Amino acid sequence: MKITYLDNAASTWPKPPGVKEAMVECLDEYAANPGRGGHRLGLRASKAIFHTRVKLAKLFQISNPNDIAFTSNATSAINLGIRGLVKSGDHVITTTMEHNSVRRPLEYLKKTQGIEISYVRPREQLQFNLEDFEREFRRTTRLVVVSHASNLVGSLAPIEQIGALCKKHQVVFMVDASQTAGVFPIDVERMNIQLLAFPGHKGLYGPQGTGGLYIHPQLDLEPMMVGGTGSHSEAIEQPLTRPDRYESGTLNTVGIVGLGAGVDFVLKTGIEQIRTKEARLTYDLIRRLEEVKGVTLYGPNKEVERAAVISFSIEGLDASEVAYILDQEYGIAVRSGYHCTPLGHETVGTINQGSVRVGFGYFNTEEDVDVLVHAIVDICQKISS
Ligand SMILES: Cc1ncc(COP(=O)(O)O)c(C=O)c1O
Repeated sequence: MKITYLDNAASTWPKPPGVKEAMVECLDEYAANPGRGGHRLGLRASKAIFHTRVKLAKLFQISNPNDIAFTSNATSAINLGIRGLVKSGDHVITTTMEHNSVRRPLEYLKKTQGIEISYVRPREQLQFNLEDFEREFRRTTRLVVVSHASNLVGSLAPIEQIGALCKKHQVVFMVDASQTAGVFPIDVERMNIQLLAFPGHKGLYGPQGTGGLYIHPQLDLEPMMVGGTGSHSEAIEQPLTRPDRYESGTLNTVGIVGLGAGVDFVLKTGIEQIRTKEARLTYDLIRRLEEVKGVTLYGPNKEVERAAVISFSIEGLDASEVAYILDQEYGIAVRSGYHCTPLGHETVGTINQGSVRVGFGYFNTEEDVDVLVHAIVDICQKISS
């Protein structure tokens, strides 16, 4: 059965040409330990890792590539940002649309260190109003952390404007770019972002096991892990030099090389083209599903800009049943359930049933939209007959 893969919001697949080849070349030719030995293979491995840093720096307008720390996914990057910065007595502003990867570290610090958290709720069409952020700032506010796009319904946060507010209040601004890195333009300088967490395995088209955190040069985070860095080995203390300070232990060289090839693809194709294509598929699907009796769509309406994430339900069926039927009978891969964002579901109004989620990637086609719409029409007809 041909698989129609529509779970790109979780991990993109397939990967562009060049990713697998770069990884195989690394495995075959130079997968030695980077930065640990002075021999030529180790040097080649560490050079390849640095090249990926340079490409990411270009993508996000980061002036020093060494301000990017590689992590194993977005969650570990978010943990490093939040738990490395926020201390007892601090207050944090976030939103009700966050993934558990933001909410849980914050709630963990609330429980263990007594930090305070304010959750800003979006208004109509799931759009944020800056006044709702403005009124939450306190003397103790240390961090504002916001996901650029919701992983439930694709609604966007105005990160540039929130960044300007943070600048005014001299508060650290962190963006979770899990659903937008590689798809929407992100400029850490212009947007006043001091911490940018990104996964490598979604819109950057790298393999799973990759991700990273940009850390503003004037911001010193407490490392999540300390240990061997291959540098300053004589010192007992974790080095201050970057990126070593935040990268203890052997890196995922093969994965980072694959991520570099994924970022090459994004830079070569251009974010504008990627976004335009994903938007076409998104609005096409929304328009067509609006016509299907029995389908309820969630999230902003089609006049509002959003990322390529669409949530819906089918009357009379559980979201997990719909996903199961789509997979088993039609070979369509989607996601069902709460998508790690129960607070988001509560905000959107789907807390009782969850939703079926479609996430498009650059390699999806109009034909994929056709296949999905036909399957949904078929399912709706069957349950109503
Ligand atoms: C908004 C958001 N934040 C964080 C994450 C966690 O990403 P990762 O699986 O790379 O840790 C995801 C993944 O779905 C996400 O969509």
